[in-house]
Amino acid sequence: MHEAALATLDRNWRGGYTVPSPRLYPFQWNWDSGFIALGLAWHRPERALQEIRSMFRGQWANGLLPHINFHESSPDYFPGPAVWQTAAVAAAPRGLATSGITQPPVFAFVVERLLTTPVAQLPEWANFLAEIYPKILAFHRYLYTHRDPHGEGLVYIQHNWESGTDNSPAWDSVFDAIDVSRAREVAHLRRDTRSVDAAHRPTDENYRRYITLVDLFARCGYDDAAIARESPFLVQDVLFNSLLARSNLSLIALGRRLGADTREIETWHARTIAAINTKLWDPARGFYFSYDLRAGHSIPIKTSSGFMPLFAGICDATQRAALARHLVTSFAPDERWRLCPSTAVDEPAFDPVKYWRGPVWVNVNWMLYHGLLRSGLPELAARVKRDTLAYLREEGLWEYFDPRPPTAGRTRGLGTDGFSWSAALALDWLHHETPL
Ligand code: DGY
Repeated sequence: MHEAALATLDRNWRGGYTVPSPRLYPFQWNWDSGFIALGLAWHRPERALQEIRSMFRGQWANGLLPHINFHESSPDYFPGPAVWQTAAVAAAPRGLATSGITQPPVFAFVVERLLTTPVAQLPEWANFLAEIYPKILAFHRYLYTHRDPHGEGLVYIQHNWESGTDNSPAWDSVFDAIDVSRAREVAHLRRDTRSVDAAHRPTDENYRRYITLVDLFARCGYDDAAIARESPFLVQDVLFNSLLARSNLSLIALGRRLGADTREIETWHARTIAAINTKLWDPARGFYFSYDLRAGHSIPIKTSSGFMPLFAGICDATQRAALARHLVTSFAPDERWRLCPSTAVDEPAFDPVKYWRGPVWVNVNWMLYHGLLRSGLPELAARVKRDTLAYLREEGLWEYFDPRPPTAGRTRGLGTDGFSWSAALALDWLHHETPL
């Protein structure tokens, strides 16, 4: 597995950044890039810095960190730059095409973790830190300024691709409410289902809605106020806000190291953890749920995103106990199931092979592992690590995995193989014992 992980990161390196996988995802993705840097740190440390610098080349003048940087053109992906139409947007960078939405904010905790890897021994580390800190800060400031219209401390996502958990059943009700009777057909434009089993990917009906939103953003000229007024998809996502909280903590630590005034971040942080624990916590069900800001109600579907407040380190003893119970009951009906399905097994929408509707993902497990450790649940943490490394060893470095007990003849590695963050986080697990 170790050798395969090194070879995968080398194969997916494009001279300055890493593609998540060569055919399915031929550009640089935002949160992928953060997790990938954690693996590069143990393999080719200087590349970890290049990876992050390349990502931030795509940052917009308003602070937005795009979810895709299209460093080169490729016929293998839809939707490409022609659909996003960001070239005419004043805030978008010159000389690099990007998408116009973002992804969960990981870079502050990624950079903080790099402090304890060989990357921090590089001569340019101090310069890198001073250069990247204000950029990450600008991204967080963008989120609090433009994505929190009521000053709640919870930022909204405007597209399911911003959640990272693309076709989670949590978004079904939001998408059901969108009228697509006059929307364009896009099924024939898709490229993903040419390289990966369509049963493992979102449906054509899903894609029609995803692109309807992108077309709306382009029509709004990526003006946040216009999008907030018009977009049918405005969600306070529990994973996104939990990672923001975790990243705020890291940003405060990095800022103090640099002698910066961190009071602005401390104020954001206090508001965000209080809001996650009131608006997104359901005491009756003992679980965290995302909130549909447009429709004005909680989305009561149990997904692995509901465990991410553990990673943020913001749960009290009652919450920790309730989450631990869900993890070993509704997410794993018995010991033969592997943790952690992206959607609870007892949800009607659970699908063991379809992308974020049930399969296990390595990045979520990695964050869950660290969350359980810091929450005083070391045995559960050990189970999550054991399950993940067993998949990677037995099946290979797949994008996601079938959580069901093994059956002869059924493969458990799903999506695309040679997947970069699966390789990178395996390396972090193998080399880096320190809890985050
Ligand atoms: C995809 O194309 O499936 C990506 O996850 C979108 O960002």
